[in-house]
Amino acid sequence: MTQENIHVPNIIIIHGTKANGGSGLADAFVRSSAWQLYELSEDPTEKTVQNILRTVIENSSATSKAHAIILADQKLSFVRELEQSYIEEASVISVCMDRFRAYIGNDTVFYDALPSRQSAETRYDALAEQLLNWMQSTFAEFLTPRTVYQRYDIMPGMGLGSSLSNEKFCALEPFLLSPTTQNMNGKRALDVGCNEGYLSLGMVMAGADVTGIDIHRPNLTTASRYINAVFHAPSATFFHSDFFEFEGGPFNTILCASTFHYFRNRQEDFLQKAHALLIDAGELILEVGVSQEGGDQPFVEKYARHVDSDDCHFPNDAEYLRMAKENNFELIDKGRSVDQAGDPIPRFIYKFRACA
Ligand SMILES: C[S@@+](CC[C@H](N)C(=O)[O-])C[C@H]1O[C@@H](n2cnc3c(N)ncnc32)[C@H](O)[C@@H]1O
Repeated sequence: MTQENIHVPNIIIIHGTKANGGSGLADAFVRSSAWQLYELSEDPTEKTVQNILRTVIENSSATSKAHAIILADQKLSFVRELEQSYIEEASVISVCMDRFRAYIGNDTVFYDALPSRQSAETRYDALAEQLLNWMQSTFAEFLTPRTVYQRYDIMPGMGLGSSLSNEKFCALEPFLLSPTTQNMNGKRALDVGCNEGYLSLGMVMAGADVTGIDIHRPNLTTASRYINAVFHAPSATFFHSDFFEFEGGPFNTILCASTFHYFRNRQEDFLQKAHALLIDAGELILEVGVSQEGGDQPFVEKYARHVDSDDCHFPNDAEYLRMAKENNFELIDKGRSVDQAGDPIPRFIYKFRACA
């Protein structure tokens, strides 16, 4: 089991503005819908940058982060320290402009915004696009239709379409948050099949201490590999692990979203192990496709979608309730989730409590 970290960027600091094209690049990011200008301040003092970071953090919610572009004429000596101080709440990518080239880290260079016959605006748009493409392609070596699942929502403007992860988190949130405090403060949560950690991060932002596990290493490493060099951000704890091999806990909450169908004929084993990993009265949130076949009788629909190599198992409502009951879970709540495009089986959220 290997620990991985995952980070989400939401602030770009562009260093080297006036003679080097940084303002042009910032304008290009603003023009693109990808990164909305939150506040722009040329040559900011430490206090200004601090205020921007605070405002961004305050304006970020559990499900969406505010984005800021900060312009600085010089390489700001205090940025590293600020990044460290805000590491729990914000994440920063530093772009250095030098003679109309953009650098990230030590060895990543983007082409000149000049010279060209095109207008400055077009050239800077092209430079901004290169940066976004680079973020995408840096991950791309690992990506499969499965692993890009959440990337779309993590990196706004990547042009990869939408996986509905954000909508899914919004649907899950009322099931995850404490009804009295409306947060997950003090809760230890396990995200089973966390993919690239989008839902894990939602729980982190709601106050939980989150462990994410996934059987597919690239899901965890695509973000962390790249980001370790570039981004400095809050981290949940991620482990490359098959759920059935995972050792840890106890947890207050287990979230298993869009993953249960992969357990196939081990779905009851999952429930048994989930029960063992939870504290007494701990909560299991299952976000699942529910077969509409079989009426009131337990029934399992088996089929392979375009992303599956083998048939997945989609129980109907009666079968979910039977399996849960037989593994000492009681149903507390049930509601609709978001349906995935092209998937004929509707998605639901079950909230179960572990009984003795
Ligand atoms: C469709 S994705 C769902 C991702 C995320 N939970 C969500 O809802 O956005 C299913 C994930 O489950 C992971 N997975 C499948 N079987 C697993 C297992 N036995 N243990 C851990 N992860 C598993 C896959 O690698 C994949 O990342």
